[in-house]
Amino acid sequence: MPLIELKHVSKVFPVRQGILQRVRAEVQAVANVSLQIYPGETLGLVGESGSGKSTLGRLAMRLIDSTDGVVRFDGEDVTKRRGKGLRTMRAGVQTVFQDPFAAFNPLLPLRVSVSEPLQVHRGQSQKESMTRLRELMPLVGLSASHLDRYPREMSGGQLQRMAIARALTVEPRLIILDEPISALDVSTQAQVINLLEELQRQLGVAYLLIAHNPGLVRHASDRIAVMYLGEVVEIGSAGDVYDAPKHPYTHALLSAVTVPDPDVQRTRQRIILRGDVPNPADPPSGCRFHTRCPLALDICSSDVPEPFVLDNGGVVRCHLHTTGPKLAGRPIVDLDIPAVPQTIAL
Ligand SMILES: Nc1ncnc2c1ncn2[C@@H]1O[C@H](COP(=O)(O)OP(=O)(O)OP(=O)(O)O)[C@@H](O)[C@H]1O
Ligand SMILES: [Mg+2]
Repeated sequence: MPLIELKHVSKVFPVRQGILQRVRAEVQAVANVSLQIYPGETLGLVGESGSGKSTLGRLAMRLIDSTDGVVRFDGEDVTKRRGKGLRTMRAGVQTVFQDPFAAFNPLLPLRVSVSEPLQVHRGQSQKESMTRLRELMPLVGLSASHLDRYPREMSGGQLQRMAIARALTVEPRLIILDEPISALDVSTQAQVINLLEELQRQLGVAYLLIAHNPGLVRHASDRIAVMYLGEVVEIGSAGDVYDAPKHPYTHALLSAVTVPDPDVQRTRQRIILRGDVPNPADPPSGCRFHTRCPLALDICSSDVPEPFVLDNGGVVRCHLHTTGPKLAGRPIVDLDIPAVPQTIAL
């Protein structure tokens, strides 16, 4: 059974403008998304800035209400849950964000901030929570003495380890990692990713790993979901999505990722998408990607593509799989060249 299941979930934000803050438009930040996160797995969530990744994470932990659709946690419908029931669920889903310096009160020693989930969810006093805090420090590669420090006395990497420790205090089943390493330098990034993987092996915790740089999440993810303008356009195992993308957007997004094998890298061409990301308050009709898709068909501007479910459980939303040349779940590169231009520039 999935730990978290989203079924046809959407989120619309009002856009307010002017002195009177009147609602001038609406942004559909997340549009009809269905996905599952299973116990102990890492689901990588990639997509350009503004594609709705953080909003999806906040919907999954019920930090915000969805406009439409159903959110299930452990099989139970939590879409409308409030009060104590919601707090119980939230203890099971913790978050770690991009900027560790913004995550802690600069005026308090770290032990106070790190023990907060234990106070909120378990009713423990600061003193009672110290046993658990000391136990967690070696797990995240820090020592108990770090708990007495203030945030400014720590490096970014150390502080992110503290944020991970804070998330672990209440033994969550899922941690939503929203760009957890983007603010760190390259060598620290690898250390934090390794730490997260090691913790998963030891504790069996699941991760939703959000990143706009897909290169960083491949090896840490079991499955990958790709977002474009609020929609999940493709989801599948990390190997499948990276090595044999089924959606033209995934193909383009991943063409920019450097692969470790130089022979493979030499054969890869970077695909530059034409045009800018459309205004999310006024998304294109039909398939939202059609205005930038090098392979768009007539139907793409009029009809929203239905999900095509692959034999291995992966899903792709693209008319190429159901109409036209009918890829029916095969990778984009299977289309006859020159149907796939190697480099598409404006
Ligand atoms: N509270 C809000 N009110 C209004 N619009 C919002 C709000 N939160 C997000 N949005 C809009 O929803 C869309 C998706 O935003 P979101 O932060 O989820 O994107 P993202 O994929 O996390 O981007 P990034 O990679 O830059 O973090 C954007 O167009 C954003 O402007
Ligand atoms: Mg974000």
